[in-house]
Amino acid sequence: MNTRTLGKGGPEVSALGLGCMGMSEFYGTGDEKESIAVIHRALDLGVNFLDTADMYGMGHNEKLVGQAIKDRREEVVLATKFGVRREGAVRTIENSPEYIRAACDASLRRLGVDRIDLYYMHRRNPAVPIEESVGAMVELVRQGKVAYLGLSEVSAETLRRAAAVHPIAALQSEYSLFTRGLEAEIRPAAREVGTALVAYSPISRGLLTGTLPPADELPDDDFRKFAPRNQGENAEHNAALAAEVRRIAESAGLTAAQLSLAWLLAQGDDVVPIPGTKRLKYLEENVAAASVTLSAELLAELERAVPAGAVRGERYPDMSSVEL
Ligand SMILES: NC(=O)c1ccc[n+]([C@@H]2O[C@H](COP(=O)([O-])OP(=O)(O)OC[C@H]3O[C@@H](n4cnc5c(N)ncnc54)[C@H](OP(=O)(O)O)[C@@H]3O)[C@@H](O)[C@H]2O)c1
Repeated sequence: MNTRTLGKGGPEVSALGLGCMGMSEFYGTGDEKESIAVIHRALDLGVNFLDTADMYGMGHNEKLVGQAIKDRREEVVLATKFGVRREGAVRTIENSPEYIRAACDASLRRLGVDRIDLYYMHRRNPAVPIEESVGAMVELVRQGKVAYLGLSEVSAETLRRAAAVHPIAALQSEYSLFTRGLEAEIRPAAREVGTALVAYSPISRGLLTGTLPPADELPDDDFRKFAPRNQGENAEHNAALAAEVRRIAESAGLTAAQLSLAWLLAQGDDVVPIPGTKRLKYLEENVAAASVTLSAELLAELERAVPAGAVRGERYPDMSSVEL
């Protein structure tokens, strides 16, 4: 697998990473054995960039990833996140220095490692100045607990302020053919300060593949059941767009997931998509997208079929925690 560098002087990672979130929560029930097999197969295929967070499965996902990599630690660029505290159904966003220090120690313990390669602030609480939070993250770098810093779902202004304190290797935000809100202001700011874009939900949580059942058929513990873009008329409109993506993919001998990933890779060397799956067959299909080069004609056809802003409905029921 070819590689990309995260930010100026940041870590070298595979052009496609692996999102591990769905192995623990949000997209139906996973099987631990198959999830671990997916992580091992990803490493065998050259995917070295693993993504987790302390809140995925309330710590379960970090433990699972830690277990999977315990004999292969040196092969992995390990990314995790802090900042979303969950107590039962209640979520708060915590960015204070004390919270960050404790969260980092807890993640290191669950992962079973002595260093996190890329540590992201998962969500920002504007009540805490970003400089204070990044200052606490820099302290973790000085202590050797963290190698590189990242942020998730922050605005261009927050990113600039953070990067003035310390280099930010990566901004992880939702980015796909169906979610392009960051292209206007955040993308140019990231380039300006030398921060790579790690594209999460790069196949729009499965929506782009056309395999996602209608929202009312999804179980209550599937996050997608409640996403506004999967509801009613929005869902119908968006399914028609996804069908267009599938048609174009088929004409190029690709699956819709592969085309969606190849489109992101074509947006610049500073974009690293992290598709998520708990299944070997999807992993192998997705990895093949890293060697696809899309022609200018095909990119133009896609742009006509799914222009920025074509998708209807928000991606989260509550957009207040994302700075977009
Ligand atoms: N920073 C943040 O706030 C944030 C938010 C969300 C996610 N993330 C990270 O980003 C990663 C990826 O995003 P995501 O998992 O939300 O969305 P995604 O990668 O766009 O989509 C994942 C969904 O698509 C399905 N899928 C994957 N490959 C497929 C294929 N080739 N054909 C058909 N279906 C396929 C998966 O199915 P199965 O589940 O059946 O395998 C899963 O349901 C996560 O794992 C997580 O690490 C970060």
